[in-house]
Amino acid sequence: MASLKICCMGAGYVGGPTMAVIAANCPEIRVTVVDLNAAQIAAWNSSNLPIYEPGLQAVVESCRGKNLFFSTDIEKEIEEADIVFISVNTPTKTQGIGAGRAANIKNCELCARTIAKVSTSNKIVVEKSTVPVRTADAVRRVLACNDKGLTFQVLSNPEFLAEGTAIDDLQKPSRVLIGGEETPGGQEAIQKLVSVYANWVPAAQIITTNLWSSELSKLVANAFLAQRVSSINSISALCESTGADVSEISRAIGSDPRIGPKFLQSSVGFGGSCFQKDILNLVYLCESYGLSECAEYWHQVIKMNEYQKSRFTKKMVERMFNTATGKKIAVLGFAFKKDTGDTRETASAFVCRDLLAERAKIHVYDPQVKREQMMLEFDYTLNVNTTTEPDLEKLITTSSSAYDACDGAHAIAVLTEWDEFKTLDYQRIYEKMSKPAFIFDGRNIVDQAALRKIGFEVYAIGKPWPHM
Ligand code: UDX
Ligand code: UDX
Ligand code: ADP
Repeated sequence: MASLKICCMGAGYVGGPTMAVIAANCPEIRVTVVDLNAAQIAAWNSSNLPIYEPGLQAVVESCRGKNLFFSTDIEKEIEEADIVFISVNTPTKTQGIGAGRAANIKNCELCARTIAKVSTSNKIVVEKSTVPVRTADAVRRVLACNDKGLTFQVLSNPEFLAEGTAIDDLQKPSRVLIGGEETPGGQEAIQKLVSVYANWVPAAQIITTNLWSSELSKLVANAFLAQRVSSINSISALCESTGADVSEISRAIGSDPRIGPKFLQSSVGFGGSCFQKDILNLVYLCESYGLSECAEYWHQVIKMNEYQKSRFTKKMVERMFNTATGKKIAVLGFAFKKDTGDTRETASAFVCRDLLAERAKIHVYDPQVKREQMMLEFDYTLNVNTTTEPDLEKLITTSSSAYDACDGAHAIAVLTEWDEFKTLDYQRIYEKMSKPAFIFDGRNIVDQAALRKIGFEVYAIGKPWPHM
């Protein structure tokens, strides 16, 4: 193992933290992360890392320049590597066949082409990016176009880290999954990658499978997790109408070990770069194999999430006397979950879009998300920009604190569960708000009884909402 070299193509949310943790646990392995985006690489080499992730800075600083490197010299690093990870983005296709559903594996294919072109020695190529099942086949065929008679083994090693807890998830993974070909060469490649993870992951937690099971497991894991969120969110709607309390239900059902307590937190809707994309990908796969009932089953998880997001804004407007026009609404949280600055598919953007349609004046505060990033999210995911919404710049204000955002507001919408929103001085906030002062908790994190005592009208996801 002494001279093993790893190169990772893609220095994003997955590639960066994953390689940092490999480097930290394997001092004898030289790990280099490369990316087409020079600014991204420069940021990884600076004290201002391109992504916010608790604990990441310390891990990077402990090994950067020793056995962890970030570089734009893609071809040289691939050529020197024994193992090349492909960890690039695979977004949902926006046009052409499968638009809106299929994952675009263009970046993966490009990586395989680059590897085929520049390699002068045999390599193990590891799919880290989430890909449709049988992508390894495409990667393998592109690699076979190398004309130097080299052998490439393709492995699938999907990442299960969640943002906000990435370092913990990588240091203590519930499992590491490695899929490979059922040939002696494939098995040897699997064992080589197993030996990397064995530096810090107990052997029993390293699962090896065939390539297709590994690729599909990633989609299925995310589909099951998202399904739990959509399931509890569907129940939250029923709770609001019946007098049941969704938190009590989560506790009651989660104590059955067959169900388990995690991922039963009702919310304004799931977001993130994976859930929606991976389910759509699964739906597309089912459809392309003629399994329309299976496709429809999983598509319902997405539809329920859409419903949950739009239901929230609708109820907000209803409570505010059926109009939000001209009202100042403080939006607390824009990231898709706490402890990350990532905004991809965030429910907060959908709520803001619907409030914009009502001509509300939105003041957003998020401890990690910059205005530029918010605007990009509106533009990319929702096609809301100054062309479609000329007053966008005027209608959306970004505030530098929760207190600023709430000053003079008619209503507060809590859309990300940042810890700091639990301990705000709500008495101080209440005094400076228009009355009646509304608070809509899309994450169930505020102390409803205490807020009602102050004088707020409080509405929370999955808690009984008094009938009009
Ligand atoms: C169920 C609930 O488990 C129990 O808590 C409740 O009080 C009554 O309903 P029961 O119907 O007796 O109990 O059996 P259960 O073990 O839940 O199985 C129900 C059906 O699901 C069976 O047909 C079983 O074969 C099937 N099943 C269960 C599967 O097909 N796969 C599984 O992994 C589990
Ligand atoms: C997810 C998977 O958890 C991870 O294993 C995979 O590798 C990538 O996709 P991530 O998207 O980073 O990770 O975050 P996750 O914690 O799964 O949350 C996804 C969304 O679901 C968030 O918007 C979160 O707020 C929401 N969620 C999660 C709920 O609304 N309720 C819950 O109980 C859990
Ligand atoms: P993920 O969440 O999957 O890590 P990101 O978008 O955060 O996705 O990161 C993916 C990274 O991959 C981006 O920084 C992008 O520039 C990089 N990338 C995309 N295609 C290539 C390629 N062909 N070679 C190298 N890097 C690439």
